[in-house]
Amino acid sequence: MGPFSIVSRLFLDFGILSWDILLTLSNLVRRKHRIGHVTPQGHPGYGKHWPEYSPPKETDSRCSCPALNAMANHGIIPRSGRNISFVEVGDHIRTTYNFSPTFCSFVPRFAARMLKKNYNKDLFDLEELDLHNGIEHDGSLLRLDSALEQAQSTKHVPFIEELLAAATGRDKEDNAVITTKDLSRILGKRRAVARAVNKEFSLSFFHKIFGSTNAATLVTVFGGRVDELHSFLHEERLPGGWESHIRQHYGITLMQLNKTILGIELGVCEQDWAEAAREAAERHKVSV
Ligand code: HEM
Ligand SMILES: *[C@@H]1O[C@H](CO)[C@@H](O)[C@H](O)[C@H]1NC(C)=O
Ligand SMILES: *[C@@H]1O[C@H](CO)[C@@H](O)[C@H](O)[C@H]1NC(C)=O
Repeated sequence: MGPFSIVSRLFLDFGILSWDILLTLSNLVRRKHRIGHVTPQGHPGYGKHWPEYSPPKETDSRCSCPALNAMANHGIIPRSGRNISFVEVGDHIRTTYNFSPTFCSFVPRFAARMLKKNYNKDLFDLEELDLHNGIEHDGSLLRLDSALEQAQSTKHVPFIEELLAAATGRDKEDNAVITTKDLSRILGKRRAVARAVNKEFSLSFFHKIFGSTNAATLVTVFGGRVDELHSFLHEERLPGGWESHIRQHYGITLMQLNKTILGIELGVCEQDWAEAAREAAERHKVSV
């Protein structure tokens, strides 16, 4: 990276950060969207009407991210999962899940940089996002490590079942919900077990934060609701009549999301799972 692009990147990151602070403050004073009015008019999902779901065809491109796969399965982004614009995917994340424009610009820009592509001009296929130790990393909630399962769009069903069964919370209407504590606990187990069974295991601090960011979306976008997550995680499908639980006027900002991320990450304790990790390593040796 040349000195010019380092300087321009600093300005860009600084710009997004200041913009994010402004949006965070504005969210505090603006009224939240009313229930049933989160997705703006003129966008898929307005009035809780989503385009039809259909599971991917064999030739379609899918990735490790359930949120992007679900958008493709509903035709919010191309159903083929191919030739997707970084700019447009950000816009659709905003109107589908109600993330702030700062999140929706920051993450696709990050992805473009990771793929050495131009954010404004270039297109990508979903599967390209599975670049190992780009954003995709070991010790995930829903998938085996890439050393054990090359096709990272393949979910590991027992992991999803274990995650949903670990929910200990109840919301005001008495629905079962997964809490940030539940997520910390399961993330600790996934990391400890993956570290024990995968000889090529790696997980930098940076990738831990990606992991807890993804976990945080389950309690923010879905309010932790187990019934909704069942459809989202197993089928990568938005439940009928669904809308995002994020109701802030400008969508959840990086700063607001960071509170949840930090709570989850600080609660992770791999040592609690030392025994489970040893057992998993034994079982793994027998099976290979
Ligand atoms: C352009 C924006 C996005 C990109 C490039 C992206 C990319 C990714 C990638 C590469 C992974 C795999 C990480 C891993 O190895 O565990 C992932 C996982 C995930 N993402 Fe996304 N994502 C985006 C937006 C979102 C949004 C908006 C949501 C929530 C509505 C979301 C929710 C998740 C979840 C829940 C996981 C599962 C992680 C796991 O298995 O532990 N993502 N994403
Ligand atoms: C994607 O773009 C490439 C190159 O322009 C083209 O060959 C291909 O047919 C496109 N695929 C889809 C599914 O649009
Ligand atoms: C919030 O966390 C993200 C990583 O998930 C980081 O890139 C960003 O700079 C943080 N933003 C703020 C405003 O703290």
